[in-house]
Amino acid sequence: MNISLDYTNSFIEKHELDHIKSFICDSQELLHSGRGPGKDFIGWVDLPKDYDKEEFNKIKEAANKIKDDSDVLIVIGIGGSYLGARACIEALSHSFYNILSKEKRKTPEIYYVGNNISSSYILDLFDVIEGKNISLNVISKSGTTTEPAIAFRIFKEYMENKYGREEAKNRIYATTDKSKGALRELTEKEGYTSFVIPDNIGGRYSILTSVGLLPIAVAGIDIDNLMEGAYSGMKEYSNPDMEDNICYQYAALRNILYNKGKDIEILVSYEPYLYYLSEWWKQLYGESEGKDGKGIYPAAANFTTDLHSLGQLIQDGKRNLFETTINVEKPKKDLEIKEDKLNLDGLNFLKGKTIDFVNKRAFEGTLMAHTKGNVPNIIINVPEVNEYYFGKLVYFFEKACAISGYTLGVNPFDQPGVEEYKKNMFRLLGKPGY
Ligand code: PA5
Repeated sequence: MNISLDYTNSFIEKHELDHIKSFICDSQELLHSGRGPGKDFIGWVDLPKDYDKEEFNKIKEAANKIKDDSDVLIVIGIGGSYLGARACIEALSHSFYNILSKEKRKTPEIYYVGNNISSSYILDLFDVIEGKNISLNVISKSGTTTEPAIAFRIFKEYMENKYGREEAKNRIYATTDKSKGALRELTEKEGYTSFVIPDNIGGRYSILTSVGLLPIAVAGIDIDNLMEGAYSGMKEYSNPDMEDNICYQYAALRNILYNKGKDIEILVSYEPYLYYLSEWWKQLYGESEGKDGKGIYPAAANFTTDLHSLGQLIQDGKRNLFETTINVEKPKKDLEIKEDKLNLDGLNFLKGKTIDFVNKRAFEGTLMAHTKGNVPNIIINVPEVNEYYFGKLVYFFEKACAISGYTLGVNPFDQPGVEEYKKNMFRLLGKPGY
């Protein structure tokens, strides 16, 4: 059992792969030699082997304390300081995690804030956490990002009013740079328990650092198995021979399709619990490749839900897109369809089949339809969604993104474009110096 790649329906010929092979090889050389653009941000490449074991144990200890003394964990962060944890928690937890009874869930409810600037969202969250014991994990590498900084200001005050300053300190966990930024300064001044985001790992590549691991561990997810999966990916996807490396093949396929005018990639899944994995993937690929007037637009769709909204456009609209489907081979749970005596819905032909059996036929039927509609299809088969394969899939996407970005000729580790809206916003808000 392993993650595998199927590109039989991608409309890509062998000679196209042969042609791009040397470019992929150059990209691998750039990344592994540490001489490529953005070379100061490649700490994630060896992270599954070289991660700080002391910090890792400290994360486990903090997670246990939060599980013991809290009904709720509030996670404050945005972008790379938020999406990875949420993607992993949603993929590996109960679909209705927060509203499940505490007896069944056994771990704290988890809410995310500081990933938007909506006053209604914040006030509604206050209603939900009323009367509950709270811990708070504020995550910001720069320590100066507006959305989480505003949320932290509000929730810090809430915690101090609720618990008093001393106890609030015991319930606030800060994940930030080791020495720079306003959050680090505040952390030192207040004496919060803190975790360090390594200098050489950018936000969107930070899921397997304390950024993702603390909230993930609080949700009761086994972070040892997660890292083991990533480590397996690290070894397998370092094979320089593209023919034996599905990660490099994915990077190659994307570039070939982009060069043929396919500038939208839709990441498809048939499992709603993978919704936030797609959100994480969108940031990873969008921020890494969308620059210098280039880049594939990373879109996402959840089937079969979106077949009833986007299906028409994918089947029959402008042919500028391709699909990459994450196919989960073994569902986490399954359910049999029973016979109904009256059979008024005419569904007795499905008697004895399972819901996942139907889901898989929906996938195959969609694949045939979209292929017929000239939509290139790439399939990433994942044996099952557990900690191990989630960690491996994360590494697969990270490495493929770096190789794909280098092959596209961009620096996959910077994000100069995200500053533009901030400058305008600060000027409009009257921030000194803008
Ligand atoms: O990938 C990135 O660098 C960004 O998306 C950041 O993660 C995001 O802006 C949050 O930044 P910070 O962690 O500094 O608050």
